[in-house]
Amino acid sequence: MSQATENISSRESRGASAPIIQAIDVSREYELAGETVHAVRSVDLEIRMGEFITLVGRSGSGKTTLLNMLAGLDHPTSGRVLFEGTDMAGFSEKQFIQLRRHRIGVVFQSFALLPLLSAYENVELPMRIAGLGAGERSKRTNEVLDIVGLARRAKHRPYELSGGEQQRISIARAVAMKPDVILADEPTGELDSVNAAEIFGLFKQMVTEENMSIVATTHDRTLLNMSNKIYTVHNGEIELTEVGGDIDPNAPFRRPDGEDS
Ligand SMILES: Nc1ncnc2c1ncn2[C@@H]1O[C@H](COP(=O)(O)OP(=O)(O)OP(=O)(O)O)[C@@H](O)[C@H]1O
Ligand SMILES: [Mg+2]
Repeated sequence: MSQATENISSRESRGASAPIIQAIDVSREYELAGETVHAVRSVDLEIRMGEFITLVGRSGSGKTTLLNMLAGLDHPTSGRVLFEGTDMAGFSEKQFIQLRRHRIGVVFQSFALLPLLSAYENVELPMRIAGLGAGERSKRTNEVLDIVGLARRAKHRPYELSGGEQQRISIARAVAMKPDVILADEPTGELDSVNAAEIFGLFKQMVTEENMSIVATTHDRTLLNMSNKIYTVHNGEIELTEVGGDIDPNAPFRRPDGEDS
């Protein structure tokens, strides 16, 4: 794998307790037909290595908007998003490419698979772009297709796959790159409860075994207790709802019962 450049250091060199991504007083407004939509309001959020964070909230509450800013795909109207302490707003195009290629994996709500490529090629493409050798690429691609249970669908194009299968391919694509952080937007929205629990189990395993960080949005409350921290998103604001395990025993503990209406 080619080296990340221009101060985007590797996972090994990162301080254990420093956040990998940090949102500081982040807001995002959209101007539409003379009206201002406050999609995200004054959000503070820290993502540390080895953390599995879930964002839960109603449709339109601001989850995708927030996730896109954490990924550097969109910029805040006000506030800052830091990657390893550096404001992403000052990143060069080259740094963004390095970031997306090696450090941050994104699972899009819309899957964003390339329609003319097979499932196998979709998973393999980012590794090809990143310059991984053929042997390593095929090993990883087959490995992750197996993990998401779609080895038998490797030759299918996206339109020859069900919605849930396309979703699992998009997860396999993000996982294959072994990024430091995976930002996953409704990664189980198209899956039945068994497959959804398996994907969250896979995320949990990556966090505990590979010390990756994961932020996933979900509507499915049965999946929440697999994560370390649960934030409820409501009207663009986030609230820490529950902290699990040994992450922070002093944080307020409350089950995210009922709707956050
Ligand atoms: N490009 C845009 N222009 C104007 N308003 C937008 C735009 N994108 C999103 N919004 C608005 O911002 C708010 C937050 O949208 P967002 O997509 O972040 O919600 P979400 O929590 O991801 O919803 P869902 O669960 O349905 O995916 C919504 O009210 C939405 O209508
Ligand atoms: Mg969304």
